[in-house]
Amino acid sequence: MKKLRTGVIGTGFIGPVHVEAVRRTGLAEVVAVSEISQPRAEAKAEELGIPKAYGDYRDLLADPEIDVVHICLPNNMHFSVAKEAMAMGKHVVCEKPLAMNVEEGKQLVELAAKSGKVCAMHLNCRAYPLVQQVHEMVKNGELGEIFAVNGSYQQDWLFKETDYSWRLEPEYSGESRAIADIGTHWFDAVEYVTGIRVTEVCSDFATFYKTRKKPLKPVETYSGKILTPEDYADVEINTEDYATVLLKFSNGAHGSFTVNQVAAGRKNRMYFEIYGSKCSVVFDSEKPCELWIGNRDGNNQIMMKDPSLLTGIARGYDSYPGGHNEGFADTSKQTILRIYQHILGIENSGHPTFADGLRELELCDIIVRSAREERWLKL
Ligand SMILES: NC(=O)c1ccc[n+]([C@@H]2O[C@H](COP(=O)([O-])OP(=O)(O)OC[C@H]3O[C@@H](n4cnc5c(N)ncnc54)[C@H](O)[C@@H]3O)[C@@H](O)[C@H]2O)c1
Repeated sequence: MKKLRTGVIGTGFIGPVHVEAVRRTGLAEVVAVSEISQPRAEAKAEELGIPKAYGDYRDLLADPEIDVVHICLPNNMHFSVAKEAMAMGKHVVCEKPLAMNVEEGKQLVELAAKSGKVCAMHLNCRAYPLVQQVHEMVKNGELGEIFAVNGSYQQDWLFKETDYSWRLEPEYSGESRAIADIGTHWFDAVEYVTGIRVTEVCSDFATFYKTRKKPLKPVETYSGKILTPEDYADVEINTEDYATVLLKFSNGAHGSFTVNQVAAGRKNRMYFEIYGSKCSVVFDSEKPCELWIGNRDGNNQIMMKDPSLLTGIARGYDSYPGGHNEGFADTSKQTILRIYQHILGIENSGHPTFADGLRELELCDIIVRSAREERWLKL
């Protein structure tokens, strides 16, 4: 079978995760990367063992050898690069968020429909085997009627005043930070597994650091050096470190979600609890191979990730036997595998699409407006 040829644009944190995941599908080879400058592209290509390096992403898009383009750039570039990639006839895998606002997202969904190509999102948190298992359990009626959905997504990488990234600057990141950056994953996973949709929101935002200390040179420049006050500039922060959102769902269920990027000790914890009329389930991405099942009239249970215990489509979401833990990187493999199977016409077993990316932009937009207007809003 013909192998797909992939180009990855942006090789900071998540780009290399895509490169590894693409290779693990066995369906493609990564033939090119693009970075902000030619020397950086070449260094990254060498590090990742990729033949071609482009200092301008447009040259990667113009490369006729490339079938699929992965967009792993800061948020502000997703819209234009996705548009250009579609215009060049490429299949597209875009990082979240799909774009900077709902209007851009709608345009991309329309263009994707016209393109005849597969236009997918890397909303990978729904691809944990035990998240897929919850989807199966809900579908089979094992939870009964869903009464409540609660949860959080918490991290501590912005805990200190000196923690800094482009994600703190709205021109690169967008109007929302914590909700758009990681809340997106929670909402995507929760709506996917429950099959119910958020219909109303009431949000409360907080920015604990009103200013942060931005390094005046690239952080690598400082490695090995003790920073002094002159090495920083004070920058005003206008996006949320924290948010709590009260939720109402399409089936009448209620819920709440908290996101916090300054939560000491929470490294990258996506957590949800779903309370049904028959039982409850709890998933914690920091312990992704254990699913807590809560019962009123019997013992509570811990289900382990094990292919012999997973049911339905969840069974295909793990690569290894029980006891061999799978985590974040495996969710990328499982997501990209399904996207590539779709592109190659092997099967379309479902993967996040641009329409899912637009859904997240709509949720994000209304959550931000609700916080600003301090009231419940309907989607
Ligand atoms: N799905 C996930 O779990 C997940 C995790 C992390 C990040 N993300 C998303 O991925 C995107 C990238 O995040 P990241 O953490 O990798 O950021 P990053 O800053 O680590 O990497 C971004 C890379 O893009 C490069 N870049 C910037 N402008 C460029 C240009 N014009 N041409 C080519 N390269 C350019 C930068 O040099 C950098 O290497 C964001 O949209 C983020 O929301 C998703």
